[in-house]
Amino acid sequence: MAHNAMATEYDVLDDLWYPHLFNRLHAGILHGLPPKAGVALDAGCGTGFQSMLLAMAGYAVTGVDLADELLKQAREKASDPIFAQGEPVPLFSTNDGTAQREMDAISRQAAAMRREPVIPPVFRVGDIGDPSLYPLESQDAVVCCGSVLSFVDDPEKVVALMASTLKKGGLLFLEVEQRLNADILWPFVDILIGGRLGYGQDFKTAWRNLVTPPGCDLHLDFPFEMKNGSKLSLPMRLFSLPALETMLAINGLQMREKMGVHVLTNLLPSTILHRPGAGRFLRVVFGFLAWLEKFCAHKRFFSAFGCSCFYVLEKT
Ligand SMILES: C[S@@+](CC[C@H](N)C(=O)[O-])C[C@H]1O[C@@H](n2cnc3c(N)ncnc32)[C@H](O)[C@@H]1O
Repeated sequence: MAHNAMATEYDVLDDLWYPHLFNRLHAGILHGLPPKAGVALDAGCGTGFQSMLLAMAGYAVTGVDLADELLKQAREKASDPIFAQGEPVPLFSTNDGTAQREMDAISRQAAAMRREPVIPPVFRVGDIGDPSLYPLESQDAVVCCGSVLSFVDDPEKVVALMASTLKKGGLLFLEVEQRLNADILWPFVDILIGGRLGYGQDFKTAWRNLVTPPGCDLHLDFPFEMKNGSKLSLPMRLFSLPALETMLAINGLQMREKMGVHVLTNLLPSTILHRPGAGRFLRVVFGFLAWLEKFCAHKRFFSAFGCSCFYVLEKT
């Protein structure tokens, strides 16, 4: 499982891209949660960001993932005595002060929502395409965030299973990588300046991605650079939102919220924002775009763009 290679560094977010993404997702989840907690499934939980968030908010969470090394990290966090006492705990570590404060506020907000003692999440190795993980109409909430659906072979099947396991009125918090964003154009600039942006696409691939009809998903190899300099190439799907939304509706999932993430911040190349140790100028420009994005990412027009799209969906 390719994601296992990230186990030791997954929770250390010293770039600009990921702290912004996760803070937007986690704020969106808390905003969508009903006041009464219940039972939840975290499909593709990784090291447990969203499992821990939901547990802090009072949910009894089961996290499932294929990557056993990531689950080890998740179990370690869930056994932290501070967390067991019900105190808010950090979901990840970041050297970006603004993102750190935002994350701390999100953790505090989650812990303040809880009425009962905290229940540590249970983490299991499993394939989220396995129907036995989804007892019929048993969950109050399902979370599938962190681009999980982009990595599975059969997203239609996984969406149908997630819908089937929700109780009527239950909520699915879903985030997907989507294809309509500035990252479809940046590879052309990259080619012109000799690959210095690090997209690693040749002209043929960049052109194919640009001209693929808007209703079709894109499939690409995402270049991921580890902190030790080694490179991973993760095959992933970038969703066409109209096609995805049809699939969600067919499964009885009604859209309550839709939010774009990395809509305006992607006016800067994502490959640069993924690099650790951003300089002051980049931080200032990114901070301004990230701030502006919070005000417009829910607007219908903006939410159709961006690198990720986050949905709150209700099972009808
Ligand atoms: C980018 S991580 C996101 C993890 C977590 N949800 C988060 O937001 O940090 C994507 C996760 O999906 C998991 N994954 C991919 N395909 C899977 C599958 N078929 N079944 C279970 N987990 C899967 C990977 O192991 C990885 O942990």
